[in-house]
Amino acid sequence: MAKKNHGPTPSLRRRLGRWLRVARRPWTWPGNRRREQRRRALESKDGFDATHGTETTAPLPGLNYGATPVRTFRRIMEAIPTPLDDCAFVDLGSGKGRALLLASEHPFRTIIGVEHSPELHAVAGRNLAKFLPPTGRADRFQLRCEDAADFVSTSWPEADDVLLFLYCPFPSELLRQVCAALQPHAEAGQRISIAFVNPNRHMERVFSDWPQLHCLARFEPPDQALAAYESFAIYSTGSSTDSFPGPAR
Ligand SMILES: C[S@@+](CC[C@H](N)C(=O)[O-])C[C@H]1O[C@@H](n2cnc3c(N)ncnc32)[C@H](O)[C@@H]1O
Repeated sequence: MAKKNHGPTPSLRRRLGRWLRVARRPWTWPGNRRREQRRRALESKDGFDATHGTETTAPLPGLNYGATPVRTFRRIMEAIPTPLDDCAFVDLGSGKGRALLLASEHPFRTIIGVEHSPELHAVAGRNLAKFLPPTGRADRFQLRCEDAADFVSTSWPEADDVLLFLYCPFPSELLRQVCAALQPHAEAGQRISIAFVNPNRHMERVFSDWPQLHCLARFEPPDQALAAYESFAIYSTGSSTDSFPGPAR
């Protein structure tokens, strides 16, 4: 006679296993969880790290780090004035260097990343080494491990044209300090354009106190759950008749 099995059935065991896996996950607000899932979906669609052998995506515990999605960066570049040969690209809060690597697809004269976390700065260095082909123009890059405010007040580039890239790096007080340090450069004739990912009202307030700065393009994704990764605004001290192709799609 066949022995009777009194244990859970395979389907119950599977269901229990699934339940345990879910129960062990760290708890987050449902809104954050959904946002995080969308961010991950966006990342895997990007396939940036898989394509380039880099590691620009994973967050580091205790650090406010997130990489700009590739398609956000590309949309921004479609709305940026050209030509870029004399333009310096500056990412304040450059993290693991994703935006810098994407900027290298464009003919910027110099590409500068400023990151205050030594860990993130070190990862950016490794990413750059993996990303650039041996024939790549490594001489265009500067990776600096320092505070953004110090960099802006002591080492801001002299170029006629600068594109400052900001992906929510710091609170509005520091942004105000950065803008105050930049204004004399703009008054001296430098064209400063600012691409700001995930714009917010603090940013609007700080920028509205800089009379020379005006908004040239804005983008809001149709899916508002992606706004934190895909929305952006572009401001410039240059004339709006400079060659801007118009608002991004
Ligand atoms: C949201 S991440 C953006 C990373 C990168 N710009 C990108 O788009 O892929 C913001 C970065 O700003 C850096 N950060 C924050 N405050 C900073 C400061 N005062 N000076 C320099 N970097 C800073 C953080 O460590 C973090 O790496």
